[in-house]
Amino acid sequence: MKQIGVGIIGCGGIVLQNHLPGLALCPEAKLVALCDTNPAVLQSASHHTGVTATFTNYLDLVAHPGVDAVIIATPNFTHAPIALAAIAKGKHVLCEKPIAMNFAEAKTMFDAAEKAGVRHMTAFTYRFVPAMHYMSHLVKTGFIGEPYHFRSCRLQDWGTRAVGWRQVAKLAGTGELGDMLSHRIDYARLLVGPIKRLVADTRRFLDVRDGQPSDLEDWVTILAEFSNSPATGVLESSKVATGRGEGARSQDYCEVNGREGSLVFQLERPLELQIAKRGDTGLRTVPVPEEFLKWPGSPRDPHVGDSAFTFRYDQDVEFIQAIVQQRPCVPSFREGAQAQAVMDAAVLSALEKRWVEVESIN
Ligand SMILES: NC(=O)c1ccc[n+]([C@@H]2O[C@H](COP(=O)([O-])OP(=O)(O)OC[C@H]3O[C@@H](n4cnc5c(N)ncnc54)[C@H](O)[C@@H]3O)[C@@H](O)[C@H]2O)c1
Repeated sequence: MKQIGVGIIGCGGIVLQNHLPGLALCPEAKLVALCDTNPAVLQSASHHTGVTATFTNYLDLVAHPGVDAVIIATPNFTHAPIALAAIAKGKHVLCEKPIAMNFAEAKTMFDAAEKAGVRHMTAFTYRFVPAMHYMSHLVKTGFIGEPYHFRSCRLQDWGTRAVGWRQVAKLAGTGELGDMLSHRIDYARLLVGPIKRLVADTRRFLDVRDGQPSDLEDWVTILAEFSNSPATGVLESSKVATGRGEGARSQDYCEVNGREGSLVFQLERPLELQIAKRGDTGLRTVPVPEEFLKWPGSPRDPHVGDSAFTFRYDQDVEFIQAIVQQRPCVPSFREGAQAQAVMDAAVLSALEKRWVEVESIN
């Protein structure tokens, strides 16, 4: 069978951390082309991967005949134009989150990908954490009964350091909302369903990060109602929670409490959940069962490597498997666009200090 030729657009941090090791797990795929506007980054990626088809303009990469699928890992403002150019050339697309700058852009991407019949995927990486995968299975199979309330709390300490394009509205769209809370908005959808209505607030505590101006929020919170559930949701995310650290070892807490029980997830403990059934007097810690330690079909040995990172590689496995099996990716641009609709509503709510209805992709 011919291998799927993959091109990577944007060769920065997340490509090294997630996508190169992920693609390395896929014998059905071959990395064939690289693109970055920064020649030094491009050269380093070429050296690291041995890939010699390199481009500084993404239009050249998407036109490359050896490229069947692209991974878009550039700053947020470039996602939509790059994705639409790739889709127009009939290429499958895995796009980093947030997939667009607003819901209108995201919906255009979803519609174009569906119309072209290409596979489309949003990089909501934390769906692939074994404990989150198991948690969603337990919710779907009725362990907690009807959900009462959902809570997500992402607290990090990024101090006052500069975060590059992430602190510039015209490049990132939103700050903490798109950067961190977008993943947790997706947890809410995964565990309870689409958000229907919300009220939100945001704060920028630092106007300057390491001498560079910031015009985006460092903190965000959302109070949510859901479309298909009477449950309520509370989501909070911060870059300025002193002492919390950052990345995989900092707080990413998610809890769903229902009529029959409770489930508690913490990213710091990716291979276990805390659970309780009605009548229990406390939470019990349970290990994630073997069958949930890796994504279905992943060749990864879940007992090898640092479990805080290795789950991320299953994301690219899912993308490639969906192409091979000619089925939709999970999560697709549908989930990416729905999260974007929630983000748009949160921005409007924070601005106008009122409840806002969330647009639907369906
Ligand atoms: N899924 C996750 O868990 C996760 C984690 C981190 C970042 N991300 C997302 O990944 C994307 C990239 O983040 P990052 O941390 O790797 O950023 P980064 O700044 O480290 O890398 C981005 C790269 O894109 C290049 N670039 C910029 N414009 C370009 C263009 N038009 N064409 C080609 N290359 C271009 C830059 O030169 C840079 O090398 C963002 O959307 C971010 O939100 C997702």
